[in-house]
Formats: sequence, C-alpha cells, structure tokens
Amino acid sequence: MIAPARTVRGRLQVPGDKSISHRYAILSALAEGCSTIANYAPGGDCQSTLACLAALGVSIERPDGPGGRVTVTGRGLGGLNPPTTPLDCGNSGTTMRLMAGVLAAHPFTTTLFGDASLSRRPMRRVMAPLAEMGARFEAAPGDRPPIVIHGARLRPIHYTPDVPSAQVKSAVLLAGLQTEGTTSVTEPAPTRDHTERALEAFGIPATVDGRRVSVQGGRRLQAHDLTVPGDISSAAFPAVAAAALPGSDVTIDAVGLNPSRAAILDLLRRFGAVVEAQVTSIRHGEPVGHIRVRHGALEPVEVLPAEVPEVIDELPVLAALATFGGGISVSGAGELRVKESDRISALIGGLRAMGADADERPDGFVIRPSRPLTGGAVDAHHDHRLAMAFAIAALGATGPTTIGGAEVVAVSYPSFFDDIDRLRS
Ligand code: S3P
Repeated sequence: MIAPARTVRGRLQVPGDKSISHRYAILSALAEGCSTIANYAPGGDCQSTLACLAALGVSIERPDGPGGRVTVTGRGLGGLNPPTTPLDCGNSGTTMRLMAGVLAAHPFTTTLFGDASLSRRPMRRVMAPLAEMGARFEAAPGDRPPIVIHGARLRPIHYTPDVPSAQVKSAVLLAGLQTEGTTSVTEPAPTRDHTERALEAFGIPATVDGRRVSVQGGRRLQAHDLTVPGDISSAAFPAVAAAALPGSDVTIDAVGLNPSRAAILDLLRRFGAVVEAQVTSIRHGEPVGHIRVRHGALEPVEVLPAEVPEVIDELPVLAALATFGGGISVSGAGELRVKESDRISALIGGLRAMGADADERPDGFVIRPSRPLTGGAVDAHHDHRLAMAFAIAALGATGPTTIGGAEVVAVSYPSFFDDIDRLRS
C-alpha cells in the first residue's frame, strides 16, 4: 500500500544496471580466465542469466549474495557444455534473446523457457537472423517460448532488423563473435549500445559506422575486472518522484549515463523538472556520474516515434509523471505491448483505476492533465516497471493505493519500496 507523499529529498544509489550486467556475465563466460563483476544487478533477471551460464558449465561464485561481486571463470569461445536440463530464463527477455545468440553457435541442442509473462513474448525476431546464420529452431505456436535451439557452425550475415531492438542486435553480434568472418547489423533506429562497448572492454573491436555495427568473429576474449554502474532505468523512478512533487530534491550517485540510455533526462527537462547530470568517470567505456533532479512546474509533453527506442523502458514512469499535471501523448510505441506485460493496456488501465484521464492508442497512449489521482486498487500484471510506475503515481494521489503483485519489483529493483520510503520528507 502506498500512501501519498508531500516531497522527496535525499541522496541514493540504485542497483547495478541490468542490461550491462547481462552482457558482462555473458562475455565473461565466453572469455578465457577469471573475470570479476562488482555491483552486478541484484534482481531476478540477471540472476537468471547467471543460472543459465552455470547450467552450461561456467563456474560462477557470488559469495556476498545479490548486489555483491560475482566471479565468473570463462570457458573460452565455443567452450560451453551441453546442458542436462532445459534452461530457465525466468521473467527475462534479455536472458532468452542474448543466450539464443550465444547458443546458436554451440553444436548442441538447448531448450530455453520462461515464466508466464516471458512465454507470451515474441522470439521470431531473434530466431530469424540466427536461422539465417545456420542455427535451427523450434518454438511454441506464434514463435513464443519455450524455444529449442539446435546450434551449428554459423556463417556471418549482414542483418537489418525490422524492429529497433538492442536485444536483437546483441543476439546477432554475440553469434557473430563466435563465427569466422564479419557479422553486422544495421539498426532501423539507434538502440542502447552496451554490447558494443562491452565487446571493446573485452578486447574485441566492434566497428560502428552510422547505424551499422560489425564484429569480427573468432577472436579470443580477455577476462576482466568490471564494475557495473547504477541502472538509469531504475534511477528514473526516484527521479520522476522528485520531478513530480513540489519542493523535492533528489541526487542519484554512481549511475550509468550512457547517451543511448540518458534520453530520460531530456524528457524530464521537457516536463519542467530541473535536472543536472554530470559524468565523473568512464568505466570500461561506460560513462558514470550523478543526477540531481528538482521539481519544476509541469508542462505537457509529446513523445514522438523517433524518440521511443531510447526511452522504451521509461515510458511507464513518464506516464506516472504526466498524472501530476502536465499530461503526455506517446505514439510509435507499439513495442510496449510485447514487454513483460502489454504495457499500454495494463498501464492505462491501472492509471485510470487510480483516477487518471487517460486513453490507449494502438501504438501509444494519451494522458490529459486533470485533477490529482484519487488512488485505489491496481494490479502490477507481473511487470516490475508497472508496479514501480503505479507506486510513483500513487505518491501524488489524494488517498492510498494498493498495488497487487508488487513483489515483482524484485526483478530489477529489490530495494525500491525501501528507497522511496527513505526519500519521503
Ligand atoms: C534491453 C533492450 C530493450 C529493453 C530491455 C533491455 C537490453 O528491449 O526494453 O529492458 O538489455 O538489450 P528490446 O531490445 O526488446 O527493445
């Protein structure tokens, strides 16, 4: 149950970046020697990636538990063992799609499955290019999980996906890393570039030419000692709370400020928030720094289709911000319907139940400025980002809000409710 808040103030760090953690774990497993990953994301999704790698014979130690340092002893390119059971990807689309790219190049059969939410998500987008490279796939009707991957010796391709997706790009590049020759992907729109930066950190040049990124296969990866920055997509929740509530002032330290993830900061400014962001170091090619967000009078914001890929994970919390007064319209975001839930209908359904004046569109949504929300009862729909977006919207309601299934925040941000409570003043 979330009670309304007057202001939020203070300083915090958010958990390690989920996207970067998956990539560091996978590349460490393919490297030769022992890598360490500090501040590895503590949530369930990145745990799923470690569990899959362990089932493929990779030695993984995590003596301090979630959020601590992970030690991964890599098996070298092509060195994974055939698994003895199907691999459980939990709630994590990134695990399933990136591991598909890794396993397509191993000459054995692997089954990947997930929970009810992941079992509804489309996998054709990775199966198609990996099949073009020479792997064979079986899947449930509609190309949904579970998927069976018959890995093979692959041939390089040049792939042009029809959806902008960092997961698809990364699956193809990870397969290409294990394939003699040059594999490349030309994206329809820029997406997060953590795979490219992580490859460079492991000593593999990823050549970027406009929207085309290429990798040379067959080169050995060097083990590394890595530190994961805080997750800007998690930071977005306290940042939005600060933008939304008058008198608020919140600083988030040691957070990733990769430009392909930082579009949320410009959107907060467009809403009227006062946002300062400063890069203080570059770690393994990833800019890291702090963000300070203060409230400002809220304005209406329009998010255009071209802007969507770079704020795809932040749209639910931006919708929450819009309920504090400014309003928002979003189009070209049909991809939201195939995330952990149908993030258009579940989001708008929940915000309406809390009193918002909001409508779905086939590829987006509109939230009109109105009176404060009343609060009420909503369901998280097994979707961590919806649970957190509803919680932030609830801070501005006139009454309490109950979020069913709120424990799902553990997928990406286990300490979310504690952190928000600490910031209340
Ligand atoms: C991710 C890419 C995005 C994003 C997801 C994480 C990644 O998905 O929504 O949370 O780590 O590559 P798509 O590739 O489906 O856009």
